[in-house]
Amino acid sequence: MIIALTGTPGSGKTTLAEALSQKGLSIASAQEIAERHQCILGKDEQRNSMIIDTDCLDTVLSSYDPVSDCLIIEGHIAQVLKTVKYVIVLRCHPNVLTKRLQEKYWPEKKIKENIASEVLGVILSEAIEVHGIGKVVELDSSQKSIQELTDIIVRLVRNSMKDMTLYQPGTIDWLPVLLQKEYSWMVDENGT
Ligand SMILES: Nc1ncnc2c1ncn2[C@@H]1O[C@H](COP(=O)(O)OP(=O)(O)OP(=O)(O)O)[C@@H](O)[C@H]1O
Ligand SMILES: [Mg+2]
Repeated sequence: MIIALTGTPGSGKTTLAEALSQKGLSIASAQEIAERHQCILGKDEQRNSMIIDTDCLDTVLSSYDPVSDCLIIEGHIAQVLKTVKYVIVLRCHPNVLTKRLQEKYWPEKKIKENIASEVLGVILSEAIEVHGIGKVVELDSSQKSIQELTDIIVRLVRNSMKDMTLYQPGTIDWLPVLLQKEYSWMVDENGT
């Protein structure tokens, strides 16, 4: 089975994927597979990122043997892939996410775009829309350490995702941050 590990940029996908790989799980990056198999539609100049052809990536992934193993596909588009059976969405409190993206020296405009996306739960909504709520879990990477997240995912995978209802979406809500002054730009109709 293929499991998507997704989340807003800065939510911790790559760091967690590396920790999971050290625990013996098979991990692949959606972008790396897409590049290797020419599943790239072009470059998003504004965001300085590749536009991945997700249909092409699904075709590549459909030849993966689903019985023998579990493969975790990491990337912020992994939730829209139809070949994935379950989706793990990493969430991150906007205060923590802002700090993490600032540490990556991201420009303010790009940080705000991603904070808005995280507050609105865009990736989680996409995951639920494509796969249904019963196939999706969400984990808070601003509350849980990489070690804790690794332990949870290793346990879930080893148990064929049977305990996933423990992490059902619906417990994480960042909308109350909109009442704070530092997020007023999100509700200001003049935008940034
Ligand atoms: N659970 C966590 N606890 C503390 N720090 C974390 C946690 N998860 C990630 N981080 C830190 O957050 C930063 C961003 O993590 P990472 O680069 O893995 O995010 P990402 O989701 O892969 O981002 P991108 O989509 O831009 O590749 C890193 O400095 C990492 O050490
Ligand atoms: Mg990453």
